[in-house]
Amino acid sequence: MKPKHPSESLTVMTEIVLPNDTNNLNNLFGGQLLSWMDRCAAISAHRHCRRTVVTASVNNVSFNEAIPQGAIVTLESTVSRAFSSSMEVWVDVHMEDQRGTGKRTKCNEAIYTFVAVDDLGRPIPIPPVEPETDEEQRRYDGALRRKQLALILSGKMKPEDAHELKALFLPKDADQA
Ligand SMILES: CC(C)(COP(=O)(O)OP(=O)(O)OC[C@H]1O[C@@H](n2cnc3c(N)ncnc32)[C@H](O)[C@@H]1OP(=O)(O)O)[C@@H](O)C(=O)NCCC(=O)NCCS
Repeated sequence: MKPKHPSESLTVMTEIVLPNDTNNLNNLFGGQLLSWMDRCAAISAHRHCRRTVVTASVNNVSFNEAIPQGAIVTLESTVSRAFSSSMEVWVDVHMEDQRGTGKRTKCNEAIYTFVAVDDLGRPIPIPPVEPETDEEQRRYDGALRRKQLALILSGKMKPEDAHELKALFLPKDADQA
């Protein structure tokens, strides 16, 4: 299959934080943000493979800064790497300053894994990703380790089989032993 660039799966979603979206501190409720991010990432995954996709795991979410009621929130997602049927999708979240400057601040980030499936929900092959920028290359390079970690945590891979992940922690020779 012909490789695709991350820019081909770029998805941008803009939302405004309304009272219904907030927690008791009048900041955006985390579950609402997770839902927006899942939706945005799913569209990127679909744009990459043009097939039905399902969320397989949420590998990392960091809520770095509270997002106040009234804020304008922009979510941007791209597919960073594709494997056989699964793909890693990054979501970057920015909020716009409410005091008139329009300054954008990065407040959250998440990494999702989606799987392309056929009409019976069975995993199917997808095109590879070809990174173009330095950041796309960094995200691509780390994706296999993150996939291995997600599979270990979900009990689908034995830690001893995760060679690329182990290489982060062990000197080179230790993995050969
Ligand atoms: C995701 C799903 C299709 C995987 O099916 P499966 O029978 O485990 O299929 P496989 O073991 O062949 O895995 C398929 C791919 O998913 C990846 N995968 C499975 N579970 C994963 C997890 N927890 N984290 C990351 N990747 C995962 C596998 O590594 C494999 O990737 P690859 O083909 O690129 O190498 C299946 O578990 C499913 O349908 N889950 C429900 C999804 C859903 O409804 N999501 C909405 C949220 S409720």
